[in-house]
Amino acid sequence: MSDLVLPGLLDDLAVIRQDFPILERMLAGGQPLVYLDSANTSQKPQVVIDAMVDHLERHNANIARAMHQLGAEATEAFEAGRDKVAAFLGAPSRDEVIFTKNASEALNLVANVLAWPNASGGAPFQVGEGDDVVITEMEHHSNIVPWQLLTQRTGANLKWFGLTDGGELDLSNIDSLITETTKVVAFTWVSNMLGTINPVAELTRRAHAVGALVVVDASQAAPQLAIDLAAMAPEERPDFVVFTGHKVVGPTGIGVLWGRGDLLEQLPPFLGGGEMIATVTMEKSTYAGIPHRFEAGTPPIVEAVGLGAAVDYLGHVGLDRIHAHEQAITAYALEGLQTIKGLKVMGPLDAAKRGGAISFELEGVHPHDIAQVLDSRGIAVRAGHHCAKPAHARFGVQASTRMSSYLYTTPAEIDALIEGLEYTRSYFKLG
Ligand code: ALA
Repeated sequence: MSDLVLPGLLDDLAVIRQDFPILERMLAGGQPLVYLDSANTSQKPQVVIDAMVDHLERHNANIARAMHQLGAEATEAFEAGRDKVAAFLGAPSRDEVIFTKNASEALNLVANVLAWPNASGGAPFQVGEGDDVVITEMEHHSNIVPWQLLTQRTGANLKWFGLTDGGELDLSNIDSLITETTKVVAFTWVSNMLGTINPVAELTRRAHAVGALVVVDASQAAPQLAIDLAAMAPEERPDFVVFTGHKVVGPTGIGVLWGRGDLLEQLPPFLGGGEMIATVTMEKSTYAGIPHRFEAGTPPIVEAVGLGAAVDYLGHVGLDRIHAHEQAITAYALEGLQTIKGLKVMGPLDAAKRGGAISFELEGVHPHDIAQVLDSRGIAVRAGHHCAKPAHARFGVQASTRMSSYLYTTPAEIDALIEGLEYTRSYFKLG
């Protein structure tokens, strides 16, 4: 393993790697695992695995409704997960943190409830005919399709920011896109394909100036950028922020929707069922307060315990240190990738403008073939459209190969990728 030390690299990287048991895995053919697919899902530290196992071994029960000791313990553990997530986001109130199945469900929740009047017939935020919803061309499908459904069902208009050739949002027509008829502006904080970090404060300020709500997909941001909602100026603070558990070293099966409390209080429910009600008769129901109004049915209990342990772990390492590490690894990777003949990096070439996911094309080789050759050397990357087809179409390609790093990624793993790509070139006799 290379002993290269880059400025910004976590100085206790070797210790951090020991926290993640899977990083010791040897793959077929005796290859050590080189995991460069963390934007797809992150690996899990032992503390997360232990917290979940301990909960299942010792405290498992359903929450809120079980009138016994285990039920009380499980409820406490679940709600402690909410407290930890609220602290991770710097949320003004823990009641503003809603657990969902994943980030997609959180985005669908928001897009869905904006289609309806609330329980008392009021509709202060309802999107209707003639209103505009503004998104961007660099979104993951989960931040496109829910808005297509909303606008198709309500007669509203869907509009979007295009992209510059350098892979940033083209804000040149912001004045004609964000106008008095704009009801919602939804965009990703960090692109899962291009890596671009978007100007959240600026876009939010512009949207709020016309009275629009702002929805931010932080799925790729939450793992690597410190988020402090309470510290943001109100006019620059989004109204909704979503992320997913499994990308922040937590488990799958749980996502988070943070929403402004006063908004959530006024919005109608999403899914109906147990736990989200105040009373139910055969004719009608009244609903629980937030956050439970938006958590119908048995929630992801052990997943909330795992997510709590995960965000505690990231907080212990320090999000600022993780971000500096990601930038150091990304800069090193960008430099290495650009030495490969015929390879084109998509998105910003300046590491300071991007997160730890780098998509690229290698002329003459399909991304699936690249991923397969790399896999034969123990290197895990993602190949395909990364659920961002419009962003690929913008750059005239169907698919790309993507490496993505995280707090445990070493420069030696980037070296292995670069060597693997050189090998891929020779394997396909690219000359
Ligand atoms: N899992 C998706 C990705 O790989 C979102 O980017």
